[in-house]
Amino acid sequence: MLTLEHIGITFHANTPDENQALKDINVKIAKGDFITVIGSNGAGKSTLYNIIAGTLQPTSGRILLDRNGDGKPKDITRDPEYKRACYIGRIFQNPLLGTAGKMSLEDNMVICSKKGPKGLRITLNNKLRTKFREQLSILNMGLEDRLNDNVEQFSGGQRQALTLLMAVMSKPDLLLLDEHTAALDPTNAQIIMELTMRFAQEYGLTVMMITHNMQHALSYGNRLLMMDAGNIIMDIGAQEKSSLTMDALIQRFRAIKNGSSDNILLQG
Ligand SMILES: Nc1ncnc2c1ncn2[C@@H]1O[C@H](COP(=O)(O)OP(=O)(O)O)[C@@H](O)[C@H]1O
Ligand SMILES: [Mg+2]
Repeated sequence: MLTLEHIGITFHANTPDENQALKDINVKIAKGDFITVIGSNGAGKSTLYNIIAGTLQPTSGRILLDRNGDGKPKDITRDPEYKRACYIGRIFQNPLLGTAGKMSLEDNMVICSKKGPKGLRITLNNKLRTKFREQLSILNMGLEDRLNDNVEQFSGGQRQALTLLMAVMSKPDLLLLDEHTAALDPTNAQIIMELTMRFAQEYGLTVMMITHNMQHALSYGNRLLMMDAGNIIMDIGAQEKSSLTMDALIQRFRAIKNGSSDNILLQG
């Protein structure tokens, strides 16, 4: 579905601060994959997302997307971010980033509904409100009774749940989650994680989930990528992943790093 070929990026090239944040990334993502992504702080995880989403242009390599699965992928490497936003959803750690706080819940949902086919104007009517209520009730947070409240009144967990729902409603080809539960308290983090898994299954989403929670990385999804210093150093498929333990993962990391004492559990 999405193929990254020889993706590299160098920040501040030809200066004393030169930083090759991604070296030579090659990865093929299949439709329906749920990939967990781990790696120490500064490994290049968010940079990889920025390149997939079009926030950053790679210095080298190309990105191919096969949206309809006909085996004729399109080169999207130079497509601007706003175009890719129609088919690539993204959720950040900060629950305030995904929704407009000064706008009402229903207006937020209208904006999200407009991400449909070109030219389609959606006007808010009672039929649409009923649909929004139905969708919101899935979250089980009582938001279906708060359509007129400004989103800034909601808790972090509620806002992140809303961001997730809105991302799913836009039916993205790929959903990029960047530590999307890390800023929440454990109860809300668990709620958001359960909703994520439920939506992924019900809508057959293709998901990449960066997490600092090793247990989540092991127990969720059908594939695990570990990044380190701008490379993907492990790519573990479903079968192996299902029996992988935390200890075995750490041992493998140490073996790859030649006994280095880097602590992959240390996250910023
Ligand atoms: N826009 C940028 N400009 C310059 N350097 C950047 C930029 N974004 C990321 N970096 C650098 O790239 C490296 C990887 O960062 P990042 O992808 O954020 O890591 P991670 O998400 O794995 O913690 C870091 O050294 C970081 O300082
Ligand atoms: Mg990051």
